[in-house]
Amino acid sequence: MIAPSILSADFARLADEVAAVRGAEWLHVDVMDAHFVPNLTIGLPVVEALLGVTDIPLDCHLMIDDPDTWAVRYAKAGAHNVTIHIEAADDPLRIADELRAAGALAGLAIKPKTPLEAYIEVLRHYDTLLVMSVEPGFGGQRFIPEVLDKVRAARRLVDSGELSVLVEIDGGINEETIEQAAEAGVDCFVAGSAVYGADDPATMVAVLRDLAAAAAGRD
Ligand code: DX5
Ligand code: ZN
Repeated sequence: MIAPSILSADFARLADEVAAVRGAEWLHVDVMDAHFVPNLTIGLPVVEALLGVTDIPLDCHLMIDDPDTWAVRYAKAGAHNVTIHIEAADDPLRIADELRAAGALAGLAIKPKTPLEAYIEVLRHYDTLLVMSVEPGFGGQRFIPEVLDKVRAARRLVDSGELSVLVEIDGGINEETIEQAAEAGVDCFVAGSAVYGADDPATMVAVLRDLAAAAAGRD
C-alpha cells in the first residue's frame, strides 16, 4: 500500500493534488500543532474538507500534544485510520477504544528513538503501527535506516500471530529507500516529497508500489 503525504502537496490546490494521486490506497494527512513538533500544518476543518472531495481513505497522522482530546474527533469526522504518537498520549488504551468505537482504525506512531518493545502490550489494542523513519515535523528529510530493526521486530510479531497490526513507515521513502523497507516487512509506505516532487504523482505511486512488491517478493 502507498499513502502519499499531502504535506508535500500545494496547499492552495489541495483538491487537485488529491486527484493527482488517484490509485493510492490511502491518503496521508500530517496534522502538526507546533507543540509536539516545531511545525504547524492543518487540522480538523481541512480533513473534513478533504473527505468531501475524495474517496481515498484518509490516514491521519496526529503529531499533536493532546491526542487524548483530539484524536476521536478525526475518527468521528470520517478518517479511516487515526494515528497518535505514543510519546504524547496519556491514556493510549482509552484512545484506541474511542477511535474504534467511532468507526476508525486505531494507529500508534513511534519516533525514531522510541523503542518498540516497551509498547507491545499497548499495540494489542491497535490496528496499525507507524514507524517513523525521520524525526517528525518536516517532509523531505533523509531516511534513517536504523529504524528497520523495529520494522523487522514488528513483522516477526505479526507473522507469529502475537500482534495484529498493519506496519506502516513514514519519512524519507523514495525510489532509493523503499526496497529496503519492503524487505524489512513494511505493509504501507508513506511518501510525501517523492510523490509530489515527481512530474506525475500517480505514476510515482505506481512505481513505488511495484518496487516494494518486487522487493517483498509479492510481484
Ligand atoms: C513528517 C511527516 C511525513 C512527511 C513525509 O513528520 O510525518 O508524513 O510528509 O515526507 P517525506 O516522504 O518527504 O519524507
Ligand atoms: Zn506523517
